[in-house]
Amino acid sequence: MCGIIGYVGPRVAREVVVDGLRRMEYRGYDSAGVAVLDGGAIEFRKKAGKIANLDAELAISPLPDTGLGIGHTRWATHGGPTDDNAHPHVSANERVALIHNGIIENFASLRSELVAEGVVFRSQTDTEVAAQLLGREVSAGADLAEAMRTVCRRLEGAFTLVAIDADNAGRLVAARRNSPLVVGVGDGENFVASDVAAFIEFTRHAIELGQDEVVDVTADAITITDFFGEPAPSHPFEVTWDLSAAEKGGYDWFMRKEIYEQPKAVADTLLGRYAADGSLKLDELHIPASELRSIDKIIVVACGSAYYAGLVAKYAIEHWTRIACEVEIASEFRYRDPIIDGSTLVVTISQSGETADTLMAIRHAREQRAKVIAICNTNGATIPRESDAVIYTHAGPEIGVASTKGFLTQVAACYLLGLYLAQVRGTMFDDEIHAVMTELAATPPLIQQVLDGLGPIKELAARFVGTKSVLFLGRHVGYPVALEGALKLKEIAYLHAEGFPAGELKHGPIALVEGGVPIFVVVPPQGRDQLHDKVVSNIQEVRARGALTIVLAEAGDAEVEPYADVLFRLPKVSTLLQPLVATVPLQMFACELATLKGYDVDQPRNLAKSVTVE
Ligand code: F6R
Repeated sequence: MCGIIGYVGPRVAREVVVDGLRRMEYRGYDSAGVAVLDGGAIEFRKKAGKIANLDAELAISPLPDTGLGIGHTRWATHGGPTDDNAHPHVSANERVALIHNGIIENFASLRSELVAEGVVFRSQTDTEVAAQLLGREVSAGADLAEAMRTVCRRLEGAFTLVAIDADNAGRLVAARRNSPLVVGVGDGENFVASDVAAFIEFTRHAIELGQDEVVDVTADAITITDFFGEPAPSHPFEVTWDLSAAEKGGYDWFMRKEIYEQPKAVADTLLGRYAADGSLKLDELHIPASELRSIDKIIVVACGSAYYAGLVAKYAIEHWTRIACEVEIASEFRYRDPIIDGSTLVVTISQSGETADTLMAIRHAREQRAKVIAICNTNGATIPRESDAVIYTHAGPEIGVASTKGFLTQVAACYLLGLYLAQVRGTMFDDEIHAVMTELAATPPLIQQVLDGLGPIKELAARFVGTKSVLFLGRHVGYPVALEGALKLKEIAYLHAEGFPAGELKHGPIALVEGGVPIFVVVPPQGRDQLHDKVVSNIQEVRARGALTIVLAEAGDAEVEPYADVLFRLPKVSTLLQPLVATVPLQMFACELATLKGYDVDQPRNLAKSVTVE
């Protein structure tokens, strides 16, 4: 939530900053702003709304070409999405401009202290207290980095801060606690940003900034300390993708592009993680096999789509490993008193690696000696750094706010983990593991086959432009697929949508069924799955009550034909792997419907990509 960028070097900072903001707009789009330093004075422009509004403002009232600048795109927390509440915030004495991602929890008491000193606030944000405190410190003579450390020691909550000082040409200072920040290392120029996408055009060399650290950046030097001024170790890494991955490449939406990237994303996630004999090779899992053998419980913790990937994982992990596996929403997990000890394995799933609730859940688990394995898509993010081990999904950057390839690769990584645990613990024979792994490795072309057959989806979506409510049914792993299909519709088509386990229908939800209600049904594979016939009965039950049934069933399943108003064929895969193919038409349906309704698919209202605040 909120994208921030800072630049120092020979380029025109304003251009670098605004272009970087454009690539991070998925992090928040309530307002945007930029500040530069010009001959000892801070100049800034900021506007409510999307970056296009800032562009228009800059066209009317340009900023000078200078080599130091900061910029921000906001997801509002404290104070509405207005021009005044937009960042950067400039201190009353006009010494510093500051941008912030996160929530300063003790801002009210700090604000009272400053008001008592006569400071006049210009916004309703929590951020402005940090700007005013910093302004006060530097005008009292503190060095900018020292002032930042002093201020950070007083702040509670989550924050990434970046500041420039009117008296410090060619220098910016940033700090982080519980919110992301990476440093981009250039040649005679440097960057700081929430996400490497902001500077990938200029450098792939990056440094993760650790928890409670301050970085002092000039064009030629990067100095990292903790909040007390002690030198902190640097954690450099290389970004493995390039600018084209962060651009739409001819598609109308990032989401559509990302849906089409799924065969490659899943293939890349599986690549190098199994041998020719089908045995699993998770070299990155630096947890000794003896410890993995002593685990007596697994808890998967995640939010949103990642939580649904965790629900899929439960079916696979319990079936393959015979270890009890719970799945819990991270924001619930951390505020109850879960039973965890040294023999619990906590698996966290997070595309961004920065989700605040998931991060707090990890800390909660590790405090109680649980081992934590993260499944994550973002190199250098906080969640993998704070976990005992990480399995990276290699989906490339996911920029559409609604997760698609992120979800599918999380599911694939969960299968890898489940099979690996089965291998280590000897709960499956080698030939069984080989058979599943071979089938899993063969799924990318099947996902492609689903994509190639999606033509009629647009036509189908056109029938539902005026629809108020859509239901999704599934059983077993089809249930999380139903939940994911419903979430996509809510997020981007602003449509009431619910996913139910089909077996629960008669316990309440069937009362929602009336003439013409569209119901998507994910049908388990025929013949090989005991639930197939039960789901076919469920289809008949809702159809008898007037529902319009849109059925996803595997090729050759003739039993569903009489009861399907619309039928989508899925490639044949075994039940546990079906989410990899069954989710795709539901993603595309949401994308098409939102497009037809004229909504911004990549930047749906009220949402932001990385939920870095509670
Ligand atoms: C749904 C979606 C969200 C995320 C959730 C977790 O389309 O994108 O529900 O799945 O916010 O995000 P990560 O995976 O980054 O922790």
